[in-house]
Amino acid sequence: MAHFSKDFLWGGATAANQIEGGYDEADRGLSISDVTTEGGLDHPRMVTYIDKDGKPGEFVSMPGATDFPEGSTPAVLPDRYYPNQIAIDFYHHYKEDIKLFAEMGFKVFRMSISWSRIFPTGEEEEPSRAGLDFYRSVFEELHKYGIEPMVTISHYDDPLHLSVKYHDWSDRKMIDLYVRYATALFKEYKDLVKYWLTFNEINSSLLMLNAFGGNGTDEQFRHAYQKLHYQFVASARAVKIGHEINPDFQIGNMICGIVDYPYTPDPKDILLNRHTWEQDIFYCSDVQCKGKYPTYAKRLWAEHDVHLDITDQDKQDLLAGKVDMYTFSCYMSNVVTTHDADDKVGGNFAAGVRNPYLKYSEWGWATDPTGLQYFLEMMYDRYELPMMVVENGLGAKDKIEDGKIHDEYRIDYLRQHIEAMDKAIANGVDVRAYTTWGCIDEVSAGTGQMSKRYGFIYVDRDDEGKGTLKRMKKDSFDWYKKVIASNGEDL
Ligand code: BG6
Repeated sequence: MAHFSKDFLWGGATAANQIEGGYDEADRGLSISDVTTEGGLDHPRMVTYIDKDGKPGEFVSMPGATDFPEGSTPAVLPDRYYPNQIAIDFYHHYKEDIKLFAEMGFKVFRMSISWSRIFPTGEEEEPSRAGLDFYRSVFEELHKYGIEPMVTISHYDDPLHLSVKYHDWSDRKMIDLYVRYATALFKEYKDLVKYWLTFNEINSSLLMLNAFGGNGTDEQFRHAYQKLHYQFVASARAVKIGHEINPDFQIGNMICGIVDYPYTPDPKDILLNRHTWEQDIFYCSDVQCKGKYPTYAKRLWAEHDVHLDITDQDKQDLLAGKVDMYTFSCYMSNVVTTHDADDKVGGNFAAGVRNPYLKYSEWGWATDPTGLQYFLEMMYDRYELPMMVVENGLGAKDKIEDGKIHDEYRIDYLRQHIEAMDKAIANGVDVRAYTTWGCIDEVSAGTGQMSKRYGFIYVDRDDEGKGTLKRMKKDSFDWYKKVIASNGEDL
């Protein structure tokens, strides 16, 4: 007997930059993802520009980290491919896609809003009517089928103009601009959207510097901590304003939920593991859920000589804008050690020592359903907030055989994670929603590939942007429909 509540929110998750396309439609301004090239396991995604002498240049793209050289201008270079510009063209296919979500029985659909569709540069005084109307139509279409939208306000998609001018949240001015944007959304959609997430995977910059490589310089850490502070304040102020506009709003944080394990019982490994949790997961979670910096923040700041620009007003704002729910993504776990270990994991965004008890995807991500249970139980105990698993899924290459896609591997992965979530609920965790990542195939955030597919719905588009964009159901489509219809009973 499964333990999901009768109003459990089953659904799927996406992000504007990875599905929407329509990058030059209506008033939309360019976003950072529009100047980010494709990548793969053999080469990283690059952000491209023309330097001050007119020569093309590029740097490695990492979520939320933009580093345009002085005097350069972001540019779309003629010989490069930029997969997010068209993505899967949800902009023109949303009615067809939502109909398919409804056929699976979705109760909720997580999506994000492209900031530069609402404020093309991010600095306009007034939002774009065309941009607001587009999302209004999407939300109305969802409600037509009884699907509740869940909206991420910022998902790796800042307006390009802001990324350059304010050097990726290095400036306090970003707080006001974000709050203006969030307020415009809250006012416009106060009767259409109830669930909001302020920043996608807000802890990703710390993860990039620590777990996924561990090579961050002091300067990079200083930047990351300062940027996070501005984002925490922006998020808290948005939460407060959101509640004033509609007290029924449920506004959550969103954490990249990577579980870390110590490699050995050596107390040094145990301590390293705890410190890794503190830096990578608890730091952001604590500020957004408890409204203040944790005690160990002093240690973290001292490690990198961080001196935050923080005011008394910021502290009050953090306390007044605690989130209502804890949401996170779950894909893999990680192993840390102070010892030498030869068997290291490689792949995109995967690092640490290989865990001999787990299986790894082609991209080096460890499948770990027990880690999901562990994370849910740990975080619920720590914050006692409603929990939502807002991303979970397996990126894999799908093959079309006789017009069908038999994606048993994906069904297996999701089944194991739903079982783990069920166990956590049985143990007392209040889990309210589960939105699988990439319910329809989308452009991979990490590699820019289309061939790293997550969906129940296949989209005919390849890594070079070729294909008809035709949608097709995979075997997992009917499986998930059955899961939802039985409220998690029939896996
Ligand atoms: C999460 C992001 O980190 O992982 C998504 O919120 C992303 O945007 C997802 O797509 C899966 O990662 P990837 O690199 O396989 O697309």
